[in-house]
Amino acid sequence: MKALVLAGGSGSRLRPITHTSAKQLVPVANKPVLFYGLESISAAGVREIGIVTGDTAAEIEEAVGDGSRFGLEVTYLRQEAPLGLAHGVLIAREYLGDDDFVMYLGDNFIVGGFADLAARFRRLRPAAQLMLTHTSTPQAFGVAELDAAGQVVGLEEKPTHPKSDLALAGVYMFTPAVHGIVAHLKPSVRGELEITDAIQGLIDAGERVDSTTITGYWKDTGNVDDMLEVNRNVLETLEPQIAGSVTESDLVGRVAVAEGAQVVRSRIVGPVTVGPDAVIHDSYIGPFTSIEGGCRINASEIEYSIVLRGASIEGMRRIERSLIGRESQIVPAPPTPRAHRLVLGDHSQVRIST
Ligand code: TTP
Repeated sequence: MKALVLAGGSGSRLRPITHTSAKQLVPVANKPVLFYGLESISAAGVREIGIVTGDTAAEIEEAVGDGSRFGLEVTYLRQEAPLGLAHGVLIAREYLGDDDFVMYLGDNFIVGGFADLAARFRRLRPAAQLMLTHTSTPQAFGVAELDAAGQVVGLEEKPTHPKSDLALAGVYMFTPAVHGIVAHLKPSVRGELEITDAIQGLIDAGERVDSTTITGYWKDTGNVDDMLEVNRNVLETLEPQIAGSVTESDLVGRVAVAEGAQVVRSRIVGPVTVGPDAVIHDSYIGPFTSIEGGCRINASEIEYSIVLRGASIEGMRRIERSLIGRESQIVPAPPTPRAHRLVLGDHSQVRIST
């Protein structure tokens, strides 16, 4: 069994971050979201993996390399434009050959991975095996309709009137039977080759499509709120560890301070992770905050946020529910501070009244 990881796409819901970087590399608890997926692919016993990339190919290749760090052998497959998830399968046809494969969406996050599902698929080999999850907003996802026996009988992409509350989570398993369907797919009204249409094609051809409804945690990190929520979830299991220096400060709960980081005259209420060489002075860092390496936070308050590499925050009271891009600078401008909510692209420079 091979894996096909989709790490291209346009990332429009995470703009402006995705103007300058790949959404699959946005860190969750200071580790790119894609890496959690690669780890679960490896844990499911898969070794050969094709990664579909788009405009951010160079960045993804630099971050993942040859995959040996994850116990994987990576082949990069370039998609000239984000023409849909099934288009990813189409361009991977030669790479996948006649092997079964798991298709994994590179910006999805699944606690506990999918090893059980892969084992079931290997044993029973339906034409497709889907991972489903109950959702209160099925309109935003591919939605599956099941019969009384739990077989998938229909699929719809982002339906206005969903037939169930079962969304397709970002893990799909296929036998090579899917290629015959994908080869004849027509673009949908939004101009993409839809994976839901490919699976519907398998059902229409009389092939068996199985599903497993997971009860564990799954999120598509396509927008900022979901990204922050996944970050919260991962930080819940953070191992406290102080490798950097902490002076005249109060650290409460689970806090990780990486090597080379400095915390001075500050209060940190975990779970919080502080990356290497970050400097925090005279500040309050509240729960569910990830601060990447090289950030500088001075005389500020921040909580429930992700701060990317090298950003600096000065004199801000206070920041919440924010995603701050790499090398951004936030400095005060007079007067009147309250809570600020920010979504800043890399290298942003913002002046906010304090
Ligand atoms: P989506 O989040 O569905 O699509 P997108 O990246 O275009 O984002 P947005 O809706 O915000 O514009 O994609 C799921 C994953 O699949 C994500 O990791 C990007 C990847 N992808 C591709 O690699 N190729 C594609 O053609 C598409 C549509 C997505």
